[in-house]
Amino acid sequence: MNSLNRVVIFGATSAIAEHTARQLVQNGASVYCIGRNTDKLNRIIADLKVRAGSDQTIDGVSADLSDINQHLRLIEQASEALGGLDAALIAHGTLPDQKACEADVELTLQEIQTNALSVVSLLSLLANQFEAQGKGVIAAISSVAGDRGRQSNYVYGSAKGMVSLFMQGLRNRLAKKGVSVVTIKPGFVDSPMTADFDKSGPLWAQPDVIAKGIVNAMQKGKGEVYLPWFWWGIMQIIKHIPEAIFKRLSL
Ligand SMILES: NC(=O)c1ccc[n+]([C@@H]2O[C@H](COP(=O)([O-])OP(=O)(O)OC[C@H]3O[C@@H](n4cnc5c(N)ncnc54)[C@H](OP(=O)(O)O)[C@@H]3O)[C@@H](O)[C@H]2O)c1
Repeated sequence: MNSLNRVVIFGATSAIAEHTARQLVQNGASVYCIGRNTDKLNRIIADLKVRAGSDQTIDGVSADLSDINQHLRLIEQASEALGGLDAALIAHGTLPDQKACEADVELTLQEIQTNALSVVSLLSLLANQFEAQGKGVIAAISSVAGDRGRQSNYVYGSAKGMVSLFMQGLRNRLAKKGVSVVTIKPGFVDSPMTADFDKSGPLWAQPDVIAKGIVNAMQKGKGEVYLPWFWWGIMQIIKHIPEAIFKRLSL
């Protein structure tokens, strides 16, 4: 089992990240939270402090994670505050307006910056630090959307696909170095990101359920995890539809 005593969370204001932080703190972890929305971040830190014991450190700072130049400093700050790092969770993301992106290449590149490049930057910096210390867990929330490009959300999907593939390579690099690289692939989650979606049907999950799966995967050092588990089966089918048929579908 991996130790999750000192954890930095990027995108800590996300609903999934907030529930993950709660579960980590409940298990006795110290947590450093990094999020963009200062008010929301402060509320989350205050709530975690109430849940934590006197021997746990709960701290954090607000930052726009699209600004890659800040990443090294943020990791150093987190490490300093917690007295070292056992694990990192990268959770920030946006759900782009696909139609707006199609009409605006700048917007497309901005979305790719947030959902892929900023994640790649954090993964790279964390990988080097954890490799040097010979242990650690690096987890990032990708998505089932990254498994196959679809007309309705291929800007988001391709960014998540890059994260998944980058992590696959990183996992391969760090497997023998004592570092776990954990790719989280949720399906539909009831969170602010999907506030405008119709949530009827059995495929929707609550953030606390996803959080439980994330903590479990990080502890066990799993590779790729579909959450809930049944998305593995759904994506096997979607990935294996022949392209000649797939391109005619309205997915
Ligand atoms: N909800 C789903 O159905 C679903 C499915 C698969 C994967 N995911 C992934 O799960 C992760 C968490 O999403 P969620 O469902 O918990 O939705 P959420 O509550 O909307 O969380 C997304 C978070 O990302 C933050 N963020 C966006 N851009 C940022 C930036 N440049 N710098 C710092 N923070 C930034 C947002 O901060 P602000 O509050 O400042 O905007 C927000 O707190 C995301 O990576 C998402 O892509 C979600």
